[in-house]
Amino acid sequence: MNKVVVGAQWGDEGKAKITDLLAQDADLIIRYQGGCNAGHTVVVDNKTFKFHLVPSGILYEGKDCFIGAGTVILPEYFEEEVQGLINDGIDVSRLKVSPLASITMPYHTEVDGYTENTSTKGKIGTTKKGIGPTYTDKYARIGLKIQDLYSLDTLEEKLDVILPLKNKTLEKVYGLQPYTKEKVLELCQKYAKIFEPYVCFEWQELLEKSRNKKVLFEGAQGVMLDIDYGTYPFVTSSNPIGGGAATGSGFGPKMIDEVIGVAKAYVTRVGEGPFVTELSNEIGDRIREVGHEYGVTTGRPRRCGWFDAVTMRYAVLVGGLTTVALTKVDVFDRFDEIKVCTAYKDNRNGKIYKSYPTDVYMHKYLEPVYETHKGWNEDITGIREYSNLPENCRKYLARLEELLEVPVSIVSVGPDREQTIFK
Ligand code: IMP
Repeated sequence: MNKVVVGAQWGDEGKAKITDLLAQDADLIIRYQGGCNAGHTVVVDNKTFKFHLVPSGILYEGKDCFIGAGTVILPEYFEEEVQGLINDGIDVSRLKVSPLASITMPYHTEVDGYTENTSTKGKIGTTKKGIGPTYTDKYARIGLKIQDLYSLDTLEEKLDVILPLKNKTLEKVYGLQPYTKEKVLELCQKYAKIFEPYVCFEWQELLEKSRNKKVLFEGAQGVMLDIDYGTYPFVTSSNPIGGGAATGSGFGPKMIDEVIGVAKAYVTRVGEGPFVTELSNEIGDRIREVGHEYGVTTGRPRRCGWFDAVTMRYAVLVGGLTTVALTKVDVFDRFDEIKVCTAYKDNRNGKIYKSYPTDVYMHKYLEPVYETHKGWNEDITGIREYSNLPENCRKYLARLEELLEVPVSIVSVGPDREQTIFK
């Protein structure tokens, strides 16, 4: 069984823990999109590991971990993350990077920082890790890939095309300093050393030999941040949806048997953009404090709100979800009431939306239609069997299954590996 783990909301759903659990049964774990904008936290035996790029499956001995062609990599960040793992005694010899992955250059982070700091209107609230500008260059066909670092003659040839274009934009549009060819070559030599132990020119053999093995595809961010299906333009620049696993990994779609959408029992979002069930009140503050909702990559407080079945049904559809893993259910242990949004109402004309309206500029006119569930007022963090969950909790989960029309097959009741219930 080959599985994809996808964020079903706006990222930070607790994918790392689910990926980590499923990695036990996988032979190869592939990260297929995004870059170091992601922040994945895994807790093992009370030790916290923070991942940005490296698949968390690296914590298991003997599993191959592959960073695929659909990713973008900021070399210094990659180096720091790998060094941190080495310092923690983790064997990183099984870590492999696709030569087709794109490189985030310093000018990408400069441009990301520039646009985010200067534009107030239309600000996206990015992680400022150069993600959008790197993907922009990739699709404009003026990006650099890791394989380019190991072929000096053709690299120079490429830079002769790329740099005049880049420098014109850097100077004229952003008022930033241009880059000389010497400077970029110097950077590329440094990057070549960073990636040398990990770049996998034999990736086709790696994928071929894994065809009959178990593969786990690890998504970053979430469906609602998908460049094509998310709350555009308040999105990331890649495809976190299940389909992205095929393009970003090098395997075809027939390799995928199951797509597990990870969602919190409520919703969080960092950065700008619409969020119909957002709670800008003491309930939102309470969810943030109980759920420790602060960004791993940026430390930003996350916006919090009730579970939104409208976006989730949409995520089931476009994300290709076959099942759901619901995390942070224990955050509601002391809540008397739990709400679930089942539809949106347009406050201009009373129109009810059950399907997700994709034009996000009209979301300011939408209000959530809620149903209210009774809380269970019990500590569930020690429960390991589904049947031992309090009745109100099981009722709540059953209602979500009914609304989403896919099973909630994993329930997470705490950060530790052990605090997981398989239905
Ligand atoms: P970018 O990916 O840095 O360009 O940021 C674009 C949007 O995606 C912003 O709203 C970010 O806050 C959001 N974002 C990017 N990565 C993550 C993540 O891993 N978790 C949650 N939000 C993210």
